[in-house]
Amino acid sequence: MLVILLTFGVLFTFMLLKDTQTSAIGDPGMETDNVRVAIESWNQCNEVGEEAPNMGSPRMADCVDVEHVHCREPTYHHKVQEWQNRLGLSSNPRRMLQTQSVNEYAAQKELYLGSKCDVPDTPGSWQFWMIMLKNGNLDTTAAMCPKNGFKSKPFPQPPEFPCFGKGCMNMPSMYHNYTKGYGEEEKIMKGGFYGSWDLDADAKEAFHMNDTSYYSVSWEKKLCEGSWVFHNLLKTSSKYPWLMLYLRSDATKGFSAGYHYETRGMSVVVPESPHFKVKFTLDIKQGGGPKSQFYLMDIGSCWKNNGEPCNGDVTSDVTRYSEMIINPDIEAWCKPSQLEQCPPYHTFSNGTRVHRTNAAHFPYDAYHIYRAPGNAKHLEEPVKTSDPYSNPQTQEILQILPHPVWGEYGYPTKKGEGWVGDPRTWVLDVGRLSQSLYFYQDPGTKPVKRTWTSINIGTEIYVSDVGHVAEWTVSNFDIIIP
Ligand SMILES: *[C@@H]1O[C@H](CO)[C@@H](O)[C@H](O)[C@H]1NC(C)=O
Ligand SMILES: *[C@@H]1O[C@H](CO)[C@@H](O)[C@H](O)[C@H]1NC(C)=O
Ligand SMILES: *[C@@H]1O[C@H](CO)[C@@H](O)[C@H](O)[C@H]1NC(C)=O
Repeated sequence: MLVILLTFGVLFTFMLLKDTQTSAIGDPGMETDNVRVAIESWNQCNEVGEEAPNMGSPRMADCVDVEHVHCREPTYHHKVQEWQNRLGLSSNPRRMLQTQSVNEYAAQKELYLGSKCDVPDTPGSWQFWMIMLKNGNLDTTAAMCPKNGFKSKPFPQPPEFPCFGKGCMNMPSMYHNYTKGYGEEEKIMKGGFYGSWDLDADAKEAFHMNDTSYYSVSWEKKLCEGSWVFHNLLKTSSKYPWLMLYLRSDATKGFSAGYHYETRGMSVVVPESPHFKVKFTLDIKQGGGPKSQFYLMDIGSCWKNNGEPCNGDVTSDVTRYSEMIINPDIEAWCKPSQLEQCPPYHTFSNGTRVHRTNAAHFPYDAYHIYRAPGNAKHLEEPVKTSDPYSNPQTQEILQILPHPVWGEYGYPTKKGEGWVGDPRTWVLDVGRLSQSLYFYQDPGTKPVKRTWTSINIGTEIYVSDVGHVAEWTVSNFDIIIP
């Protein structure tokens, strides 16, 4: 009797443990046949600035419901048509969305596409994966980007901000292969977006053209089997030396990180530290050169320095980012001789805190850079503040590198892990790691509950002298919560 009771007890406990894990996202593991992908393009301060000619507003979506009987004879029902994807302030005679601002038009278009792609579900509806593109050029003479959320003045082009001249902050061309079935019985589903920031280039040829920027994202899956595989390509050129491409799981409502408009996305539940893990398979085929800051994981959030939640007021909201860079060429700039590159302290997984001046114990090699919010009133010197122009508001950035201190959270502990030729399926304890990281708050304020509205994978190819190519695939993505 006792043995039976014990056995049931153990089984029951096991079932409970097993059942306490669930997914925070609409498409756990990327296994849903119905396609839900959107793409967005940003300029240096996460706006549009100016639409590319004949492209419409840079928000598009590919959403398809796939109908089939026992995985045979699939038919594909597209929910967003080409005329909807081409909607733009400059190109659209119908004027469906009511605004005179190209920036707000893009934000409204995202909500509109979200309404077409919306999947009603419990505990909440969801819309799409978001592919994010960003052009890092900044024309300082045009003063298009605010400085820490306040209106900026024009100033002569400094060397740290690339810009070849007027129009350098342009949006790319955006072309679309609508998802359809290929192969035997049309059971291989495939679609993609591609384009170039070099608007005079033929986007179809841009990948093979000398010194011409290019991006593409394509997705592929076998009906009723496995995961979608997202294949990503990004190529820089001398005119566009600083480009970004990420796959994002953004919150399905509210503001997502770095973006001061309401968004749509995939994270039905916004994951909260320390209780979440992120799982995915990453296969990096080409790294993108020595300055490619490939983010194994990039997490974004927002709170004010006094711990209040963000409310869209760009003069006091602060974007918070943390990223692990896995390109082995990227060095730790944080060192005992460069304390301004380090966060004030490190917290070990057992809770012990070590100050950055404690050279015997501080893990300098675990940090690439720390950049404090430019509007913080109580920073510990020495300190470097974040680029004031590359967000609609102030930002704080903490970039970490593979190191034994992160092993506890399932992150790489050595340079080269997960890099080119070492594809892996990661289960990262992003929740516990992000709880332990240093982020600024005014002294005496209640520590915020850290919630992460954007969870991203991809690369930022930072200002390079020659063109570079990054190529990688992402599949099996999930955010696991209790
Ligand atoms: C788009 O379709 C063309 C023609 O089938 C193909 O050659 C190209 O690789 C596709 N690109 C993407 C990004 O899907
Ligand atoms: C390719 O572009 C680079 C940079 O503009 C230039 O130096 C090089 O001569 C070009 N090569 C060819 C084959 O056109
Ligand atoms: C916590 O971990 C650090 C690093 O491994 C170690 O130096 C320290 O002694 C530990 N503290 C406690 C209280 O165990």
